[in-house]
Amino acid sequence: MNTLWLPLLLGSVIWAEEQYFPQSFNASWENGSLYCRSCFKDLTTITSRNVHLIAQNLSSDYWVGLRSNSSILMGEWSKWSNGDPVTYQNWYPGHPVPSPICSSTTQSPPSTPMTSTQASTVTSASVSSKNDTCPILSEMLLCLNMTCGDLETSIGMCKGTSTVTPKTTTYSTTFNAPTTTESTSNCKPYSGQYIRDACVVLLSSGMWKERDCNISLPFICYEERFFGQINISNVTTSTGNVSWSEGPGAKNISHYRVEVTGDKTQTFIQTELFQYIETLTAGTLYKVQVFPVKCDRDLNPQNISFYTLPSGVQNLTVLSVTNVSANLNWSKPDGNHDFYSVTFINASNTKEHKCNNEGCTITDLIPGTEYEFTVKAVVNETIGGVPSNISDYTKPSTVRNLRSADNDSTVIMVFWDPPTGNHSGYRYCLKEVNNSLECTYCNIASDSSNTANNNNTNSSNTTTFSVTDCETVDGTETFIKKANKSDGSMFCLCVAALTKSNNLSGEMVPILSYTKPKTVTLFLNPSSQTIFANWTVKGKYEKFEVNITTDAYSYSLQIITANLNYSFNNLKAGVSYIVSVVTLNGKLRSNPAYESEFTRPAKPRGVKATTTKTTIQVSWEAPTESEGASIKYTVKCYTAFWKKSHENQTAYRSIRFTGLNPGTKYECNVSVVAGNLESLPETVHAKTEPEKRTLVLTMLCSSKNSLHCGKIETRFELFEKLKNITYEKFQDLIHWNMSWAKTGNNIL
Ligand SMILES: *[C@@H]1O[C@H](CO)[C@@H](O)[C@H](O)[C@H]1NC(C)=O
Ligand SMILES: *[C@@H]1O[C@H](CO)[C@@H](O)[C@H](O)[C@H]1NC(C)=O
Ligand SMILES: *[C@@H]1O[C@H](CO)[C@@H](O)[C@H](O)[C@H]1NC(C)=O
Ligand SMILES: *[C@@H]1O[C@H](CO)[C@@H](O)[C@H](O)[C@H]1NC(C)=O
Ligand SMILES: *[C@@H]1O[C@H](CO)[C@@H](O)[C@H](O)[C@H]1NC(C)=O
Ligand SMILES: *[C@@H]1O[C@H](CO)[C@@H](O)[C@H](O)[C@H]1NC(C)=O
Ligand SMILES: *[C@@H]1O[C@H](CO)[C@@H](O)[C@H](O)[C@H]1NC(C)=O
Ligand SMILES: *[C@@H]1O[C@H](CO)[C@@H](O)[C@H](O)[C@H]1NC(C)=O
Ligand SMILES: *[C@@H]1O[C@H](CO)[C@@H](O)[C@H](O)[C@H]1NC(C)=O
Ligand SMILES: *[C@@H]1O[C@H](CO)[C@@H](O)[C@H](O)[C@H]1NC(C)=O
Ligand SMILES: *[C@@H]1O[C@H](CO)[C@@H](O)[C@H](O)[C@H]1NC(C)=O
Ligand SMILES: *[C@@H]1O[C@H](CO)[C@@H](O)[C@H](O)[C@H]1NC(C)=O
Repeated sequence: MNTLWLPLLLGSVIWAEEQYFPQSFNASWENGSLYCRSCFKDLTTITSRNVHLIAQNLSSDYWVGLRSNSSILMGEWSKWSNGDPVTYQNWYPGHPVPSPICSSTTQSPPSTPMTSTQASTVTSASVSSKNDTCPILSEMLLCLNMTCGDLETSIGMCKGTSTVTPKTTTYSTTFNAPTTTESTSNCKPYSGQYIRDACVVLLSSGMWKERDCNISLPFICYEERFFGQINISNVTTSTGNVSWSEGPGAKNISHYRVEVTGDKTQTFIQTELFQYIETLTAGTLYKVQVFPVKCDRDLNPQNISFYTLPSGVQNLTVLSVTNVSANLNWSKPDGNHDFYSVTFINASNTKEHKCNNEGCTITDLIPGTEYEFTVKAVVNETIGGVPSNISDYTKPSTVRNLRSADNDSTVIMVFWDPPTGNHSGYRYCLKEVNNSLECTYCNIASDSSNTANNNNTNSSNTTTFSVTDCETVDGTETFIKKANKSDGSMFCLCVAALTKSNNLSGEMVPILSYTKPKTVTLFLNPSSQTIFANWTVKGKYEKFEVNITTDAYSYSLQIITANLNYSFNNLKAGVSYIVSVVTLNGKLRSNPAYESEFTRPAKPRGVKATTTKTTIQVSWEAPTESEGASIKYTVKCYTAFWKKSHENQTAYRSIRFTGLNPGTKYECNVSVVAGNLESLPETVHAKTEPEKRTLVLTMLCSSKNSLHCGKIETRFELFEKLKNITYEKFQDLIHWNMSWAKTGNNIL
């Protein structure tokens, strides 16, 4: 079929877009009209809006949808065959040839051409009370001030008259009334023949002529462009159901052609208003066009595009987790996808991660937390396939701030702070090791999950625990205490946080912990210039660190020995020495055992005393065995006569006692004090200067033997005896002297 396609969208939306279809085969107007009505809408109308579209490139004359209606005078060309009013005309000059009935006698036609729009808006006048005449005729009669009867009379008068050819305008008025003003004739001359059953032909020039409706001519049909509703529903990964609205002139639509294009093309012929489409590829964009077919002609198609749902991903697995990330993997689903969407809830926020490949590492997770990952393939940003879910836990972080108390010889005690993130418990493994290097890495035999951390399972760096070395504790604990461990030993202790009901372990953190060696029981056995130290220890030891120090002089010595005794020689007498013994086992040190003792003190030397009447100043030399050390002396001066004693201690080598009795003999003892011990004293006697008093004794001698008293011998004996008596009393404890005193006449 040779149809011409003339798309046109008129300026206003209320006007459907009309399309024009010139038909190339010939038909009478009536048959053309029937044909147009069955295969299109109707024969075309021509208006000022579409004339430029229709009149283009016309190759011959065409019927259009305007037929005279001879039954109504003057209303001949008032209505298009589809019922629209005629709002525009473009007659060839002299056409249409009017009916022989004359239209007018006196009235002047309008001097200016009426526009088609104006003409069409003329409505029937209210004057006409008759509804059996056409409105335009009524108006005409009003204009002419005639009744219909007058008109008929006039027509009779006009028959056969022929007068001047009127000037025509290209765009003629609604009524082809005479356009001359000067004409006084009632009847106007017209060239051509009046055709009773006339239909309008559109000339290739665009102008109109009336022709006998029965002749065969090509014709132009029109149809409003069809816009329908189309829907896609029940889309799956491989199917979809397209439904659409009925096309125009539904009884003439033979079928609908459904064309599905995408990765492959499918075409369906359908008489119903839906088509179930199958065997599609998942996640693919398809375009569906539904063409209503009328007289073998495709009407404007209804289009829709849709994506089939992507297939669900398969075999979703969590390959590995760290404490902050999870590595997911899945297999590529059938069909297509734009990307994969991985969603999960993190800290009560739903997060989405887009992945382009069949694997993704999700980061910024919280350690030790369970996550449910939902993976689906996505097309067009939002259309997701069947989601796949998998749950797993991130590993817990390491415990923080692991520290050991290390202050006891049989107890291991370790503290830590909880890890960041979540955890359900802790596992710790404790094992005695020989060497501090061994506690750099932790490894649990038969725990394959931990070997990823290191490949040093056989190296001396790594402590390998058996499962029995390990214990699990509650998540609220932050310390462990293990008693009854052997003393002086190193232990490797590894602590890891657990999650997933204590089934997933974070990385273990090692700490070298140890019990202290036991402290010795120390004995010191001092003598004057040596101290013999011996000790016992009920525990493991390798050797001992023995220190000796004193405050008395600048001296300290350190000895490392494996023996259980040591003899310190060349010490100074009377000095306090502090001996400490630390048990060593490897690098481990016990708490020190301290003992202090004084060496036996020695006698001071060269004690001297100087006196006044009431003071004694005692001075001395340090004993040779104590030379150079600061030692303490105690000095005691005693008078036997007065039975008084004066005592003081000093670190100096002299001391002065005051308030003494004059003329008295003091015995002063100086000895070295060393703790509870005192050296043998070094003694000096000193006499304070006397404060002399003279006592005169007068003795009366009487004897039976006269002259006996006068004897010199008697006198001498008496004196001796008196001296003996005095001596017995005083000895040399105080100063005294006895001599004869001069009397008046008798001098001994
Ligand atoms: C249609 O009619 C025209 C003249 O009226 C003629 O020239 C033409 O050949 C005819 N076409 C057909 C297909 O009969
Ligand atoms: C004439 O027809 C019009 C509408 O066509 C109507 O409104 C009017 O009332 C009629 N007049 C008479 C007199 O019937
Ligand atoms: C119309 O004609 C009648 C007589 O036929 C006349 O009386 C009347 O005045 C005329 N009206 C006009 C407006 O010419
Ligand atoms: C979609 O499918 C369901 C059942 O599979 C069916 O009941 C329903 O009618 C369908 N809807 C359309 C619009 O095809
Ligand atoms: C694709 O997504 C865009 C934006 O959301 C939407 O406008 C469009 O209709 C979608 N295409 C299909 C075929 O669903
Ligand atoms: C999923 O895993 C199963 C068993 O491991 C295997 O048979 C199947 O082929 C896998 N599917 C895909 C799509 O790889
Ligand atoms: C671990 O050590 C073994 C042998 O010592 C070696 O074959 C293997 O490749 C190592 N693995 C890694 C991850 O280094
Ligand atoms: C111990 O670990 C360090 C790294 O911390 C490594 O360099 C060294 O080679 C390891 N020693 C042994 C004996 O494996
Ligand atoms: C230490 O030595 C003293 C003798 O000097 C001895 O009596 C004592 O038993 C010794 N003690 C130990 C524990 O050897
Ligand atoms: C022993 O002496 C050394 C060196 O003088 C000192 O570092 C150490 O602390 C001493 N040990 C004790 C238990 O006083
Ligand atoms: C001991 O001597 C010191 C100074 O030499 C003196 O201050 C102190 O009072 C004396 N003590 C006695 C009991 O005399
Ligand atoms: C006085 O003492 C001396 C020695 O003790 C003695 O020899 C002498 O006889 C004594 N004299 C008298 C008179 O007793």
